[in-house]
Amino acid sequence: MSYRTCTCGALRVTHLNSQPTLCGWVNSRRDHGGVIFVDLRDSDGITQIVFHPETNSELAELAHTLRSEDVIQVTGRVACRLSGTENPKLATGEIEVVVTSLNILNRSEVLPFPLDSEVSNEDLRLSYRYLDLRSPMMTRNLRIRHRLQRAIRTYMDQQGFMEVETPILSKSTPEGAREFLVPSRTYPGNFYALAQSPQQYKQLLMAGGVEKYFQIARCFRDEDPRADRLIELTQLDVEASFFKSEDIFILIEGLISRIFQETLEINVPSRFPCLTYREAMERFGSDKPDTRFGMELIQVEDIFQSTDFKVFRTALDHGGCIKALNAKGFAHITTGQIEELTQLARRHHAKGLAFIKVENGEWKSPIVKFFTPAEKEALAARLNIEEGDLILFGADKWAVVCEVLGRIRLRVAELLKLVTDATRLDFLWVVDFPLLSFLEEEGKWGAVHHPFTRPKAEDLPLLKEGKFDEIRAEAYDLVLNGVEIGGGSIRIHEQKLQAQIFEVLGIKPEKQQLLFGHLLDAFRFGTPPHGGIALGVDRLMMLLCGTANIRDVIAFPKSSRGQDLLFLSPSEVEARQLHELSIQLTPKS
Ligand code: AMO
Ligand code: AMP
Repeated sequence: MSYRTCTCGALRVTHLNSQPTLCGWVNSRRDHGGVIFVDLRDSDGITQIVFHPETNSELAELAHTLRSEDVIQVTGRVACRLSGTENPKLATGEIEVVVTSLNILNRSEVLPFPLDSEVSNEDLRLSYRYLDLRSPMMTRNLRIRHRLQRAIRTYMDQQGFMEVETPILSKSTPEGAREFLVPSRTYPGNFYALAQSPQQYKQLLMAGGVEKYFQIARCFRDEDPRADRLIELTQLDVEASFFKSEDIFILIEGLISRIFQETLEINVPSRFPCLTYREAMERFGSDKPDTRFGMELIQVEDIFQSTDFKVFRTALDHGGCIKALNAKGFAHITTGQIEELTQLARRHHAKGLAFIKVENGEWKSPIVKFFTPAEKEALAARLNIEEGDLILFGADKWAVVCEVLGRIRLRVAELLKLVTDATRLDFLWVVDFPLLSFLEEEGKWGAVHHPFTRPKAEDLPLLKEGKFDEIRAEAYDLVLNGVEIGGGSIRIHEQKLQAQIFEVLGIKPEKQQLLFGHLLDAFRFGTPPHGGIALGVDRLMMLLCGTANIRDVIAFPKSSRGQDLLFLSPSEVEARQLHELSIQLTPKS
């Protein structure tokens, strides 16, 4: 005999008088003048079961001992609930099961936290993650994740893509993030690196003639965990031969439509708008702009060409720029809030945050005394300044001004609650990223995406001319509501060009062979043109599940401090294990 004949989400009025056997957890127990009601829960739903002391007092007595989370098996008869006691919130809400036999399969002690409430102590939840997984929120999130992965696999298969697994134990190469190292026992003093992405393998699959590859891949990056940053993340990794950027866009837009349809039954636009990196920075001060609200950054340096205001003058004289944004209706900002915004600006290297409040027809600001009437008039027209507005300024190097006002824009939008429609989904592609950026601290050029990214064809001459900061990449990011949910590029497939880029990145030919010989060699044997993308599955899941906590979409995540609080890992290991690996620890400082 099976444990059960149906699940706790299955029974309806059509099953009246049938005699099912159910298994599950005691979700709650209520005594009503001797009659005992239990909400019995399994992964499929909840069924109300009832014990009547007048028909079977022994059974009712046993039921009386039931506690939350006891695991039980019951058999009974399906009956209609009394009129007026139906529960429209439950799929099984019109019926109940009148129990004729009860078998207690396992008892539960009192849980360290209740499952149905918002538990603020996340460490406690993670320490007992298996209990937390029983909560309605985690049950729902895991189900959405399953549907997401199923939608991905079905869609990619239909598009002719093949899932191929690539190694997790890989090699340490400077691809971007810091890597986790794994010591080799058989090769003392040598290390594997955990793959930070399957990037090089997927390119080698293209060399291998696979043409259309995908993988739901685990990636490992030894970074400081942050709100939307994990050390162990999942990507939908994609690569295709003979694809241009536009082919990738169409493929991914179709996938996103399918995902939203199959997880949340929501329709999204079939094509997403495109913004260049330059425009995104100029207008929104971010390479992942949140376009659900306006309040764009507006350049005003032409207005202040002959200003005497020291702050603006200095910026202009050093080749910088001046931008402003109009926080409409925010003249009521408190001194404390101005201070908070100024601190935010300073954390991103601004020297200050000039502002104007427009109250009672007056511009209240420590700086307007430096403005001429003509400057004021031009500013009012450019920014559409009206009663009740708050104007915020940035004057510095272009990159600093964009970054600072971009952050201010997001914070002001939060304070003013500018995102009014919580269901709005703003997708966009950001394209034409710079290929390289100069790393001041290291005194050398670095790849903005990764070293395998292709320069735009029309910018190739700039490479020869050494104008590295002007070269644009054939790279793209996918942004949803201000979150970067994916990124990719068309790749270099020629040995010569790849070696040239490595050289610019300061990797000399001998080192190139040592680190990337596999790739450079492959390019000599007819590797086709190719490109791809990786979507951050965990970040996409956050948006699908409407949570700000990336750990809520993962069954067993590391804590915000990178620990597994369930297994208590990382942990010390035995001296014997270290000895086998030829590793000696330095004393703890
Ligand atoms: P990239 O490093 O941009 O590209 O990663 C692609 C996407 O993965 C997600 N992501 C993360 N999510 C959570 N925690 C992290 N630490 C984290 N890092 C990245 C983001 C990001 O957009 N190999 C290239 C892709 C390619 O060129 O095809 C790559 O890994 O959503
Ligand atoms: P100061 O003359 O330094 O007192 O600055 C006058 C106002 O301009 C103050 O409100 C400062 O916060 C602001 N400010 C100073 N430097 C900058 C800058 N680079 N960009 C924008 N505002 C600034």
